[in-house]
This record gives sequence, structure tokens and C-alpha cells, in this order.
Amino acid sequence: MEIIKTLGEFIIDRQHEYPDASGELTSLFSSIRLAAKILHREINKAGLADITGAAGDENVQGEQQQKLDVYANERFKNALAQRGVVCGIASEEEEQFVKFEETKNLDGKYVVLIDPLDGSSNIDVNVSVGTIFSVYRRVSPQGSHVTEEDFLQPGNKQVAAGYVIYGSSTMLVYSTGNGVNGFTYDPTIGVFCLSHPNLQIPEDGTIYSINEGNYVHFPEGVKKYIKYCQEEDDATSRPYTSRYIGSLVSDFHRNLIKGGIYLYPTSSRYPQGKLRLLYECNPMAFLIEQAGGRAIADPGQRILDIEPKKLHQRCPLFVGSPKMVDKLEKFVEEFG
Ligand code: AHG
Ligand code: MN
Ligand code: MN
Repeated sequence: MEIIKTLGEFIIDRQHEYPDASGELTSLFSSIRLAAKILHREINKAGLADITGAAGDENVQGEQQQKLDVYANERFKNALAQRGVVCGIASEEEEQFVKFEETKNLDGKYVVLIDPLDGSSNIDVNVSVGTIFSVYRRVSPQGSHVTEEDFLQPGNKQVAAGYVIYGSSTMLVYSTGNGVNGFTYDPTIGVFCLSHPNLQIPEDGTIYSINEGNYVHFPEGVKKYIKYCQEEDDATSRPYTSRYIGSLVSDFHRNLIKGGIYLYPTSSRYPQGKLRLLYECNPMAFLIEQAGGRAIADPGQRILDIEPKKLHQRCPLFVGSPKMVDKLEKFVEEFG
């Protein structure tokens, strides 16, 4: 009989890999796992219950909040506050970071940054969405209130990062800096099971993912790279395939498994790029590097080395198979 390894067993097996393991990160993952299961349940009945559509407010980025954005934010926030290992969170959906004030939380070692529902405009049309999370050790002393400095750390300081994809099946993919592992949720037993051990992105690929409708607004180097992807050349399997879902988690997940590149450049509409450094780019960059890929914001600018200045800072993102990112980088270097 096939042996099933659950996420819980896997985390306990690996606990010795963390230098000062004391079970706190295990507890943090338990809260993420619990909130993910609840989100799975709600998303799966999205067409039946009155939970699709706009919530009527805008978030700090000036974007329409969907009802499920608000729901997901509350779920993850509550789950993370309940165990005393997290002292605060920052969320794409909240203007200020959230301090967890209970005594047990003040002693918490970790902060979590989260995009509770990524790709939320896809929810009303039954297309995959996700949750992205990023974990740092606080820099302020334990026992005190969390500070902004705890959240404004470069991505290379991440202790763990991951995402949940609510797709044709629900999966949790994460890394604590020792490779990337994927777990598929079996809703009949309520358990995430190891299905994708040690995920590695193919060194090269044939998929490029970008919102091409914005072509006229892109920098010249990106335009030239898109044309390169579309040219015919048997030796390099071009033209490549264009795939774009519009949920970063889903586009990233596909490219991670099949090989590919995801691009969200600066444009005249989004002069700094659209994606958020702390909630989207950093966790994805951490995962891709752990899986053997690359993530850059500009030629020579590794996402993980960017010093964040503000919580909701935006950032261009080029992420995926290393050879494809190398190629894109050359185009941007040459043509700007
Ligand atoms: P969110 O739903 O968390 O605001 O994120 C949406 C992001 C990302 O998931 C996706 O890749 C990108 O926005 C799509 O943007 P465009 O519609 O501009 O292509
Ligand atoms: Mn998002
Ligand atoms: Mn979101």
C-alpha cells in the first residue's frame, strides 16, 4: 500500500533542520494550514453562497476589495493570532501592520506578511486563486510590540514562504530554505498530503506569461523579448507558448512545474510595476530560488536583495526558469 505523508508529519520530520527549532514554526504552519482548509471550503462554494462580488470598499492600493478578500484576510489574521508565535502581521488588505497585543503574542518570534487572496478578480468566474505568505523572525525584542522595522526586511531574511493554490485541487507549496515541497489537499479526510517533494523548476522552458494587452506601455527591452518569444526557431523551440491566468499564484505554479517565465514589468500605467514587493514578489522569489530558478526586478537586481522602504511598495517582477530569466535580462540590459 502506498504510504501517505501528511503535511503535519512532514513538518515534524524536518523540524531538526531549523537551527533553533522549538516547535514555534510548526505551530505557525498549523495556523496557515487551518486557515487554508477553511478558505478551500468557502471558495468551493463560491457560486452558491453570497460571497462573490465586490465588498464595496477599496483597499489601501485603491483596488476594489472582493468579499472573499475581506473574508480571507480575517481568517488568516485570526488563525495567526491564536497561537502565541506570531507578534504581528502585515497584509495587502490593511493599510497599517497589525499588532497582536496579547501577552502570548508579544513573546512571539515571528511576523507574517500575507496576500490573503491573490487573483481575487478571478473568483467570480471560477478561476484559480491563491494565498501567498512570507515569514520573518522579528528584529525588535521579544516581549515588546511589533514595529514597522520587523516587516521592512529584505527578502533574503525570510525564514519561510509559500502559497496555497485553490485550483482544480487545493495545494500548499512552501519552503523553509531547504528546498520546496508541495502538498495536495484531500478534502475527504481533511489532510494535506505530500504530492510534490523537492520541486525543481526546469532550467529552461517554453512558456511566457505576461499581460500582453499592456504591450504598448512596456519598456523597450520587454517588448523586444516578447517578440523574441514569438519568433520561429526550431532549435530553441520557438515560438513559445503564451499562458496568462491573471492570478500570480496560478501562473507561477504552472511555470514552476512546467518551466517558464512570468513577467510583470513597469509600464506607463504602473511606473513601479503592479505587484507588491513584500506580499507577492519576495515570497515568490524565495520559492523560485529554492527551486533552482531566478527572480529579478531589473538586470542584476535580485528581488531578494531589495531593501524595502514601505509596506505596500510595488516592484517589477521577472521570475522563472533560470535560462529564460537570463535571456530576458540580456534584452532589458541592451534595450532598456
Ligand atoms: P490581487 O488579486 O492580490 O490584487 O493580485 C492580482 C495580481 C496578480 O495576482 C496577477 O498576476 C496580477 O495582479 C494581474 O494583473 P493584471 O490584471 O494587470 O494582468
Ligand atoms: Mn496578489
Ligand atoms: Mn490579494
